[in-house]
This record gives sequence, structure tokens and C-alpha cells, in this order.
Amino acid sequence: MDSDKANLAPDKDSLAPNKDNLAPNKDNLAPNKDSLALDKDSLVPDKDNFAPNKADKANLAPNKDNLAQHEPFMRRALELARKAWGRTHPNPMVGALIVEDGEIVAEGFHARDGEAHAERVTLDALGRKPKPGATLYVTLEPCSTHGRTGACCDAIREAGLARVVAGATDPNPAHAGRGFDRLREAGIKVITGVLERDCAGLNLIFNHAMCTGGGPLIAAKSAMTLDGKIATRAAESKWITGPPARADVMRWRRLFPAIAIGAGTLLADNPRLTSRIEGEAEWCPWRIVFDGLLRTVMPRNLPSLYTDEFRDRTIVVTTPHGGLGYMRKLREMGVRVWCMESPTQRNSLGGFRKKCAEEKITGVFVEGGAQLISEFLQERQIDYLFAYTAPMLFADGRGKSAYSGLRTEHLTQAVRLADVRHESLGDDFLVRGRVVYPEKLQVDETAFGLR
Ligand SMILES: NC(=O)c1ccc[n+]([C@@H]2O[C@H](COP(=O)([O-])OP(=O)(O)OC[C@H]3O[C@@H](n4cnc5c(N)ncnc54)[C@H](OP(=O)(O)O)[C@@H]3O)[C@@H](O)[C@H]2O)c1
Repeated sequence: MDSDKANLAPDKDSLAPNKDNLAPNKDNLAPNKDSLALDKDSLVPDKDNFAPNKADKANLAPNKDNLAQHEPFMRRALELARKAWGRTHPNPMVGALIVEDGEIVAEGFHARDGEAHAERVTLDALGRKPKPGATLYVTLEPCSTHGRTGACCDAIREAGLARVVAGATDPNPAHAGRGFDRLREAGIKVITGVLERDCAGLNLIFNHAMCTGGGPLIAAKSAMTLDGKIATRAAESKWITGPPARADVMRWRRLFPAIAIGAGTLLADNPRLTSRIEGEAEWCPWRIVFDGLLRTVMPRNLPSLYTDEFRDRTIVVTTPHGGLGYMRKLREMGVRVWCMESPTQRNSLGGFRKKCAEEKITGVFVEGGAQLISEFLQERQIDYLFAYTAPMLFADGRGKSAYSGLRTEHLTQAVRLADVRHESLGDDFLVRGRVVYPEKLQVDETAFGLR
């Protein structure tokens, strides 16, 4: 863990993933006498009811600052932040509220990039000066720098708020803690670290960008059996996991600006790759297909990604080996083509990361298949992993394994997850976390045949 912290400095020269980038910068959480230990038992957000109840309010005795008594308000602030799920890139989701005499009197959240920050939205919603002794709850450290919308620390000071209770510290190592310092210098009482893990975990994509100098978060998702298979030997994969797990995937699709798949998955499944959430309009992120030889453009019946109403949201990543004729065909249909130099028929995935950064695509959710995800792993290009597991076995060596392509002889060579979360989704289980690569990752060059 110590070496993890040492690696938090942004690597400005390189867009290569900083494998240790998503953890909140705990070193910068300057010990605050008011800040108590994290409540590790309350890591799963309570989606049903975030409003503080009467009993919670009764516990808000003045000057009795322990984190637990602030949690109901912070849970509500988290719920407010999540209202902008997937809509704030490259900015973080942030929620805030003002409490006077134990009652919430104003609420707000950052709705999208370019619009007011949560603190200002909340102060505007109040529409008057806060009462003496009022507290602002906010999920992320207020900004101390004067961006397009002005520093939130200044707005808080000018409003005359007495106290700020915050969740996560600014993940940018260059700014972390500065907002808190500014507030304290202005005589405002500051309490930090309330539901810190939930507040920091809300902004996986933003945190990654802050800690890597702007690179995209590349996450891999697989739905697999207990023995790690994503498809049968006959290529059947619909459906391994049940409806709750699939609904969860839709939610993550709504968060990530882009989804990527390999040519094999496009041809086998002909997916739509949109986010379909009950009660919300269908959302189409960038839909990226890796197809070095453009074999997905050859069939008479083209995949729907190339023909449906969202085809201008489809990007095909290919090499010059794909052939100019097929590239032209795609472009004429309105599909984008990223043709990147490569000596082989496969694209460099580090090169893909750089291209995403240039195109301001801040996060990519790689949904398979096995070969594409394994190639990302081989090149150390997966930053975060989502493993949905169903209580089912194929017990067939010829079923398709979710991950392969490495030579792992010793446990020290295992790829591990950090900041791990477990979630139950019906009968299925999701394990997700930040990918930590072993120092020496040995690639099995023969895994996917000659290139
Ligand atoms: N359960 C799940 O979560 C899940 C998810 C997705 C898919 N699946 C299943 O998995 C199966 C498909 O998986 P798969 O492993 O066969 O295929 P895949 O990974 O989807 O696609 C592999 C192909 O993508 C192209 N490709 C891969 N890396 C590339 C790179 N770096 N640059 C350019 N092109 C690249 C290559 O095409 P060329 O060979 O032409 O170069 C390669 O053959 C299907 O049965 C599908 O249903 C399951």
C-alpha cells in the first residue's frame, strides 16, 4: 500500500496507466481532530432512502462531531450527486446540501461540465444568507482554484457558512487538501472524511484522470461462470448472468463515455451497446469496435452498429491492413474510422489509450470478448475490472475463458485487484476493483496465434 501511495503523482510525460491511481490520496487527508475513523460497514450505498430520519436529526447535537452523525446528510448528498450519473465528464459528480438547526434547507448537485458547481447551486437554491451556525455538506473537497465558475471556497466564505463537512479529498495530488486549508484560514470549521470511501468511489473516471494527467480510465467487464467462462464451446453466452446483473451493466454503460468490443463479439452477438434503463431515454455512448482487418464489414448483412440510428456514434479501430475500400464504405455510412499505424493486423492498445486522450474520451468500458480483454491485459492497459459471476459451471476446457494470454507460474505474478467492492445482484455476484499488475508480467506470445 505504501508503494501505491508513492505512485499517486501524475505522470505528465506518459499516458500509460498509473496502476495505482484510483485510491483516494490518504496522505493528504491532513489529520483533523474532528475526523474520525471510516465506517467500513457502510460501504454499500443505500439506494432506497438517503433522507435523514428524525432519529438521525435528533443526534445532531452541536459540537458533537463524530462521523456517524454526519452520515445521513452525506448519504443524501451522495444521492444528489448521482442524479448526474454519466453527465458531468470530464468533471466529477458532486452533491451538496445546507443544514440549519438539524434540517436540510437547500440541496444541489453539479449537473454537467460548464455549469455551476454543487456548492454554488446549493447556495443559489437557498436564495438568502445561511443562518449563523449553518453547515454545508459536500461529497468532494470544494475547489480552491478559480476556474470557469470561480473557486467554491470563495463562495462558501462569502456566504458566511460556519462549517463544512466533506466526503472525499480532491484526488489531484497538486490540489488535495488546499480547499480545506483555504476554508480553515477563513475561520470556517472543516470536518473531512465522512463516508469518504463512497464519496471517492463515486468518481472513478475523474479520479483516474486527476492522478494520471488526463488519461482515460479503461475498465474491462465480463459476465462469467464460476469457472471463469464467458461463452460455451458453441459460442453461446446469452445469458450467463441474470436480470439484476444485466441491469447493473446498463447503469455502468450510462457512466462510461465509450464502450468497446472486439470483432468476434460484434459478429457473434450483433449487440446494440446502448444503455437502456427503465424510465430513462435510451443512451448511446461512443461504441468502439476493434477490427484490425475489417472483417466485420465483409458480411452482406452488416452489424446493426453500422446501420442503426446511432451509427454516427460508432468508431471502428483498425490498421492499414483493413483495406481502404472497407474504410471508405464505413465512412460513407456515417461510421467513424480510427486507422492507426501498426506493423501487424492488431492495434497497439497503448496507442488506443493515447488516441482516446486526444479525443477527450475519458473512460472506456471494454465489454469483451475474451481475446480483446486478454490483449488489453497483456499490454497492462486495463485499469479497472468488473467481474460478474453467475452460480454456474461449464467445466469444459473448450468453453471460452474470460482471461488468458499470460504465463503465470508463481502467485507473485498474479494480476490483483485493489479497493475491491463486492455486490450481490440476484443470484450473481459482482467483484470490481482497481487492477494492480505484478512487477514482471509474462506474456504467452502463442496465446492468440501469429499476428
Ligand atoms: N459473457 C461475456 O461477458 C461476453 C462478453 C463479450 C463477448 N462474449 C462472447 O465471447 C465471444 C467472442 O469473444 P472472442 O474472444 O472470440 O472475440 P473478441 O475478443 O470479441 O474479438 C476478437 C477479435 O477482435 C479483433 N481484435 C482483438 N484485439 C485487437 C486489436 N488489438 N486490434 C485490432 N483488432 C483486434 C481481432 O480480429 P482479427 O482476428 O480479425 O484480427 C480478434 O480476432 C462470443 O461468443 C461472445 O458471445 C461474452
